[in-house]
Amino acid sequence: MKIFLDTANVNEIKKACDMGMVDGVTTNPSLVAKEKKDFKKLIKEICNIVKAPVSAEVISLEESGMIKEAIELSKISEHVVVKIPFTLDGLKATRKLKEKNINVNMTLIFSLNQALLACKAGARYISPFVGRLDDIGYNGFDLAIDCQNLIDNYGYDCEVIAASIRNPNHVITAINNGIDISTLPYSILEQMMKHPLTDIGIEKFLSDWKKSQN
Ligand code: E4P
Repeated sequence: MKIFLDTANVNEIKKACDMGMVDGVTTNPSLVAKEKKDFKKLIKEICNIVKAPVSAEVISLEESGMIKEAIELSKISEHVVVKIPFTLDGLKATRKLKEKNINVNMTLIFSLNQALLACKAGARYISPFVGRLDDIGYNGFDLAIDCQNLIDNYGYDCEVIAASIRNPNHVITAINNGIDISTLPYSILEQMMKHPLTDIGIEKFLSDWKKSQN
């Protein structure tokens, strides 16, 4: 499974890249706003670090504005993937951007019907938001798994990004269900590495070793 980092924080991205674990990055307007940096410069900086797909989201809600912003964003780097929210205008923009060979990550997917329409419009990635569905009492992963089946069954040139991941168990569910990509906050990548028995095991090996040296 590919691991994307769901952040616009350069320090986190550098740390995760040092681990060799980053297959891409997703940002959104909320994540970018936290960084208080110029948007395009920030996306360029991230692309230069990861050299892999970096999602940057448009702000416009109308088709023409989305396309204009997408073209501008795509000029920043070959790695930019334009994030377009799921709306009718978003679908129309996605179709036109596909014709221009600009990769789209269709975001805010909350139903399988939306996922099908995004695939048919030519989205390169679809992002079902697992955690936000969990928040309102659904099983968010049911949708992510349905999206994966949709793509696998019909052969769309599209990958599922399980988004809005909130805990390491979400990642395990993604792995067990063959989800293409999970996009994770840095804190979850850190949590994935930890196990108390690993720490206890290291401590025991070292103390046994030290005893044998006396
Ligand atoms: C995905 O691309 C989004 O940036 C992100 O996963 C949203 O997660 P949240 O629901 O924790 O804000």
